[in-house]
Amino acid sequence: MPDLPPPRTEGRYRIALVCLGNICRSPMADVVLSARVAQAGLADRVDVRSSGTGDWHVGHPMDERAAATLTAAGYDASRHRAQQFDRGWLDDDLVLVMDESNLRDVVSTASTTEGARVRLFRDFDPVDPGGEVPDPYYGGASGFEEVLAMVERTAAALVAALHQVLPVGDRTP
Ligand code: 4NP
Repeated sequence: MPDLPPPRTEGRYRIALVCLGNICRSPMADVVLSARVAQAGLADRVDVRSSGTGDWHVGHPMDERAAATLTAAGYDASRHRAQQFDRGWLDDDLVLVMDESNLRDVVSTASTTEGARVRLFRDFDPVDPGGEVPDPYYGGASGFEEVLAMVERTAAALVAALHQVLPVGDRTP
């Protein structure tokens, strides 16, 4: 698994998750990673947020199939409202995109320094690293289950990596 880029502010870490519509993949990753971060006791030091490169769904809740998949697995999907990616999201320590198309769109807005913090989400997938999180929007329920499985195992790996860049005792007031 690749190393996480170092935190810009010692003792804190900010992760931006980006897909196309911000109603399916990156919101699912946001909810699951946020829950794992909280379970790990890192909620006061790690911020997770998500956006989409497109503007069609800004302000909308999550796709109901994505929300139903999360709810059935015990997560709270109710608070999500879609936001659009812009250059401000490149201020985060790590920008994780869901597919190659997102990667092109995001990197095209980034400086070289900013681009070094942009990665495919599944670069951190411990089981089958390096691919895309496939867009489930035009498919059936199984696509959302597949996204949830990828997101859950990758979120667990990311939290383990966060412990490396936020060592125990490294607390900022
Ligand atoms: P997401 O899925 O990028 O995972 O949120 C999509 C949602 C909406 C659209 C495409 C993909 N759309 O074309 O509206």
